[in-house]
Amino acid sequence: MAFSIKVNGSQHNVDVDGDTPLLWVLRDSLGLTGTKYGCDAGICGACTIHLGGVVTRSCAVAVQDAGDREVITIEALGGTHPLQNAWVEGDVSQCGYCQAGQIMTAAALIANGAKPTDADIDSAMSNICRCGTYNRIRAAIKRASGQV
Ligand code: FES
Ligand code: FES
Repeated sequence: MAFSIKVNGSQHNVDVDGDTPLLWVLRDSLGLTGTKYGCDAGICGACTIHLGGVVTRSCAVAVQDAGDREVITIEALGGTHPLQNAWVEGDVSQCGYCQAGQIMTAAALIANGAKPTDADIDSAMSNICRCGTYNRIRAAIKRASGQV
């Protein structure tokens, strides 16, 4: 079935089953492989995107349910987002697998000049990192939001 979805500012037509998760539309149909596959259960956060401005696990949303909400993926950050600079400066990544999802969750947290507290960060950052980079992630979010 054909669907039209807006991703990172561009409209795309894809021909997939309606129950195909957005994760696979992004990765397989559109080649946007920055969004990662982890648990496939809406838990780990490796597949985090923004959907209509809301932090969303893309493995848990079927393309037929996306409607006209725009999808924003890690590719839209362009490599120069303040979070990405802070991630490099803070040497956050270890294996790196979870990090695109971590950054997408963090991007919503610091949007519009917000300066999240430690409690805000702990509450919002539900993404799982098997390498245990949580302290560095917190520090990088503080740096990217101008708090250090
Ligand atoms: S792959 Fe989507 S939450 Fe884990
Ligand atoms: S850096 Fe390895 S899973 Fe997070």
